[in-house]
Amino acid sequence: MSSKKERRSFLQKSLMLATTVVLAYPLSRFLFFYVPRQPRHIKVDKLLNDGDVFINPDFILFYMKKKVWAISRKCTHLGCRLNYSEKDHLLICPCHQSRFSAEGKRIAGPAKKNLARFPVEIIEKNGKSAYIVTL
Ligand code: FES
Repeated sequence: MSSKKERRSFLQKSLMLATTVVLAYPLSRFLFFYVPRQPRHIKVDKLLNDGDVFINPDFILFYMKKKVWAISRKCTHLGCRLNYSEKDHLLICPCHQSRFSAEGKRIAGPAKKNLARFPVEIIEKNGKSAYIVTL
């Protein structure tokens, strides 16, 4: 009699273990599924002259001393959108007042990292220039 109970108990535990293993695989695939982010290419048609700045919701494009670069507008502290002060040539966070240089270097505030820089490609076609910023 007791051998039947032990056998039944063993079968129940084995079935539970098998069910757990069978369900864990698809559940882990669902939970840890990762879709890699695709790069975004944003075209800026405006021709920039030396000292000009182009402000986009995601980045700021600078053209100074014949160099072009793009800086993220996302603060490295908690992600607020930075404002650009043309008077001081600084990016200032409206949330907690972190400050960054036009090159994206952290100057002050609670943010610990510099801003992200995005690659910029200059395209010239039929005498017109455009900039492609890759986010
Ligand atoms: S989010 Fe910019 S300083 Fe806090």
